Amino acid sequence: MNKKYFIETYGCQMNKSDSELMQLSMDSEGFTEAADKNEADIIIYNTCSVRKNAEDRAYSNIRESKAHMRRKNGIVVASGCMAQRIGQKFIDDKIADLVIGPYTSPRIGQIVKNYIKGGRQQLFISQEKDKFTERLNPGLISSKDSTPWHKWITITHGCENFCTYCIVPYVRGPLISFSSGHILDFIKKSAMSGVMEITLLGQNVNQYGQDNKDIPFYELLDRASLINGIEKINFLTSHPKDFDHRIVDVISSRGNIADSIHLPLQSGSDSILQAMNRKYSVEHYLKIIEKIKSTLESYFISTDIIVGFPGETEKDFLETLNVIKQVGYDEIFTYAYSPRLGTTASGLENQVPEETKKERLSELIKAHREAAHAKLKTFVGNQQRIIIERVSKKDDNKVMGRTFLNHPAVMDGNINDIGRIYNIKITELKGATFIAEKI
Ligand code: SAH
Ligand code: SF4
Ligand code: F3S
Repeated sequence: MNKKYFIETYGCQMNKSDSELMQLSMDSEGFTEAADKNEADIIIYNTCSVRKNAEDRAYSNIRESKAHMRRKNGIVVASGCMAQRIGQKFIDDKIADLVIGPYTSPRIGQIVKNYIKGGRQQLFISQEKDKFTERLNPGLISSKDSTPWHKWITITHGCENFCTYCIVPYVRGPLISFSSGHILDFIKKSAMSGVMEITLLGQNVNQYGQDNKDIPFYELLDRASLINGIEKINFLTSHPKDFDHRIVDVISSRGNIADSIHLPLQSGSDSILQAMNRKYSVEHYLKIIEKIKSTLESYFISTDIIVGFPGETEKDFLETLNVIKQVGYDEIFTYAYSPRLGTTASGLENQVPEETKKERLSELIKAHREAAHAKLKTFVGNQQRIIIERVSKKDDNKVMGRTFLNHPAVMDGNINDIGRIYNIKITELKGATFIAEKI
């Protein structure tokens, strides 16, 4: 068919991992990847709906591409979460030729091929069970991405927690856990083909196995850690309401699970947490943090915070600041609340002004920086293990990697170090990056 395609990806790791599947599907139907958009006959936008600005950016890029592609008779595809949400409107507005939701996007190659042959169907957003395509495609084992020793491994799809601000359950559908047998087999085969680091992915990995009566997440983590050749395991995301303390015990008993936990707090105020339908209290959250700190010798804790949820008062916000100072996170991801049509919170009356959200964001970031810097400084002089990821952007004679706690570190090295594991000594802290030397 000799047509070239280009995929532009927005949003979370789920989408990045879905883009790998789309690439596989396009390649297996005979399409080839283009170096950039200009060279492409088919442009695929894998979109995100989580916040308005993510959608706006994608929408204007899709519209611009369509105008450009009209001249060369090319095809524009909208896939991912926004495709699911906006659906037919993309076609009615003549902005996209094909609209493919997450259930079908891993079969994109066939869909595009049929369309080129004259197929009339343009909308593929059904969430019927028989349309769902599993993410553990054996073809992915041999496909190499930019970090060939690492694989994203989706263990669940969808989410049914309905946090009141969040669009994900509406666009991704209900929780679907993949069989532990398939997952472990996939990891084994990946390890045999040279993969040494994996990241297990789910909107809430702690709910793994609840829908299909499979093993619980801590058990899956334990079994994965016993697979020969797997040197480092990461996992995302842990919802505090379902967090099983045995996860921390498994991390502590195995040397190859990163002591690194992403535990979104969202807010440090109990009344806001309740309005968000998060189903935990700050006290419950802090018990998990205590368990991590008392069990693991060293640890990396990151979180997500939303400021300006409807009704958030100055007092609520101060409570969030207090938790930030108390926990001392290694990394925080901060967001201004963005109303999403169709979610419960978007209909609430007491919306917070944008100006206030901005002020709260900058206060939050400042408090975090101070707390994080104090913790990072205590690492100087320590030894760590590291996997080298890339040559430094600023200096060809330096390389960058992440320690087993996932802190970034820079040291002398060259391109041959990429994908290698070293023991290092941390000599200095610059901003949030360690300067280190190999030992
Ligand atoms: N499943 C994960 C998060 C998925 S979305 C979890 O439960 O933690 C990633 C992050 O985006 C969320 O943690 C939240 O902080 C943020 N987010 C989601 N919806 C949002 C909205 N409407 N406005 C602002 N931030 C939002
Ligand atoms: Fe959204 Fe909540 Fe599900 Fe996370 S757990 S994806 S925040 S609904
Ligand atoms: Fe965005 Fe969809 Fe992920 S809405 S955050 S790409 S699940």
